[in-house]
Amino acid sequence: MKTLIEKAPDLARSLQLAYSAERAASFAYIGHAAALNAEAERAPVRQIEADEWEHRAEVKKIMDHYGIPVSRYFEIKYYLIGKFIGLSCHLLGRFMPYFFAGRLESGNVCEYIIMLKRFRELGVTEHDTVLYEMGIKEKAHEVYFQGVIEDEPWLPYFEKIFNWGAGNSFNDLDYEELRPLEDADLYCEKYERGKAVVMEPRKAKR
Ligand SMILES: [Fe+2]
Ligand SMILES: [Fe+2]
Repeated sequence: MKTLIEKAPDLARSLQLAYSAERAASFAYIGHAAALNAEAERAPVRQIEADEWEHRAEVKKIMDHYGIPVSRYFEIKYYLIGKFIGLSCHLLGRFMPYFFAGRLESGNVCEYIIMLKRFRELGVTEHDTVLYEMGIKEKAHEVYFQGVIEDEPWLPYFEKIFNWGAGNSFNDLDYEELRPLEDADLYCEKYERGKAVVMEPRKAKR
């Protein structure tokens, strides 16, 4: 019998990438929280950091299930990226770390939805719940960051340049009206990794 790595190398690679990138996110949020002045702002960022560690653990469980090894290349690359972003938060003021965190979260949402779709294509539904929940959690992170910076005077300019902000998103989940799990694979049809494709939110009904 073929292993998942042989059957779906793209999916195995997505899991390896997510595993390493989640640690990068946690490192970035450690720096982000430390750079914030108010405890009321630090606490939610620390919670988001904790969510990312949990995601890393959940992704590892799926990888272990299929014998997918951790990628040393991704681990080193994203270790450095995470530490660099964490440090840079101390230099960028208040607005930019929130903005780029939200922008990054926006893209991460579809990463988990795409994995869910790929598993379904392979006839595997046992990871549906955890993958959809992680996608929704990334959406919650995005929505939180949008809320923090929505009234910032810089936001309209950054939104124009970087395609993300109060009105633009890189996923089509509507956090107020999420689809049931069975319809989760209808999301993210236009998603392409690394490309800033802005999507319209889709209502819960098909
Ligand atoms: Fe995450
Ligand atoms: Fe996140």
